Order: sequence, then structure tokens, then C-alpha cells
Amino acid sequence: MTGLAGRLVIVTAGPTVEPIDAVRFLSNRSSGRQGYALAAALRDLGARVTLVSGPVALDPPPGMKTVLVETALQMLAAVTAALPADVFIGVAAVADWRPAQTSAGKIKKDHGGLAVIELAENPDILATVAGLQDQRPRLVVGFAAETDDVLDNARAKRLRKGCDWMVANDVTDGVMGGEMNAVTVITQQGEFPIPQADKSVIAKALAQRIAELFLSASAY
Ligand code: C5P
Repeated sequence: MTGLAGRLVIVTAGPTVEPIDAVRFLSNRSSGRQGYALAAALRDLGARVTLVSGPVALDPPPGMKTVLVETALQMLAAVTAALPADVFIGVAAVADWRPAQTSAGKIKKDHGGLAVIELAENPDILATVAGLQDQRPRLVVGFAAETDDVLDNARAKRLRKGCDWMVANDVTDGVMGGEMNAVTVITQQGEFPIPQADKSVIAKALAQRIAELFLSASAY
């Protein structure tokens, strides 16, 4: 099936890494597996994919453009540079904060006692893309990794960030870094569970749902 033939899709994946000094950083736990699998599944349906990825241990998937970044600011710049697109999917575990100052050298631990790092808030890439006036992709999708009140939190997050779909992701059972996942796709039209399966199976089901949306003339 080639339901996404010629469609331009941007996927973010992996963590962002926010430097504290020459050797230390702040980051999030993310293997990049779900984002990479989703990018590959979309490619297999004919989409022209740009994968914007933080540092992961995975090889860039063939048949797409992969842009490697480290920080949230770099990720936002790479996403913006990749626009326009028909679909944006934010799977990356973007760090919510970055150290307000980055030291070029290694900070010495000779202060004795407490060390304080001031944090500046990172931009929300998903909300930024969803709020674009001229270049908003027709479908903007976020992932909500949650441990409690998974569906309620994801529903609220979809509205708060202004995206079309929010993929609710219960990450209590070793999902971060693991092979398996289970999600519920929350849309304005309804909620669609995709039961527990390998991340590549989840990715194929999601890609299929996106292709169906673009194939149904009534949707757009
Ligand atoms: O608020 P939270 O981090 O749980 O939201 C998750 C969703 O928002 C994911 O799709 C993630 O990629 C995106 N996000 C983002 N930029 C941020 C924080 C989250 O794009 N700074």
C-alpha cells in the first residue's frame, strides 16, 4: 500500500541532550526506537520522511533524510528548516529545561556541598508546530508518555498543545528503552487503542491510520 505516496512527514525521535559543561549534560530516557520505527513505517507507505533525532544508539534508517541534533533548540531549528510538511509527529523525549548557562570547561567539584544549576525552559516543539499560522502541517501528532491517569493526561495535553492527535503512551512497564509498547490514539473524533505489541507493530498501525486519514477524501 502506498497511502502516503509523496506526502512530506517530519518525525522527531530520541532524547535531547542539554549541556551543563564540557562533559556533563541533562537528558531524558529515550532509546528512539518508537520514533525510528514510526519513521520507517511511514516511509514504507510512500512518505518522504525527515527524521530529526537526538543522540541514540540506532543507525539512521535508509530511505529517508535523518538530521542529527543534540539540544531542544537545535531540534526546533531542524524541524523548522524541514517545513513545509503534511504531517508532523513529535515522538522525541524533549528535555523541558536546559542549563541557563553552559560552561565551556569542566566545572570543578570543589565548592563543597550543594551545587546549583539554573534551568531555562525549552521551547515546546510540538506546540510551536501546532500553532504555526502559515506552515502548520495538516496533521500534527504528539506522544504523551505518562505513568498516571494516562488517558486523562493525554486528553488534556492534546488540547493544551493544540495538536490533532495525541498518542497516549503508558510508560510504567519498561516501555522507555524496551521493545514493546501499547498506545491509545486520542483524536477529536474518538479514541483508538492499539494493544500491546512490538514497537514496529505499533508503528505500522499508526502509519496505517495516518494513511487512511489522507486517503479519505472527506477528512481533508
Ligand atoms: O509535555 P510532554 O513532554 O509530556 O509532551 C510530550 C509531547 O510533546 C511529545 O510529542 C514531545 O515530543 C513533545 N514535546 C516537544 N517539545 C518539548 C516537550 C515536549 O515537542 N519541549
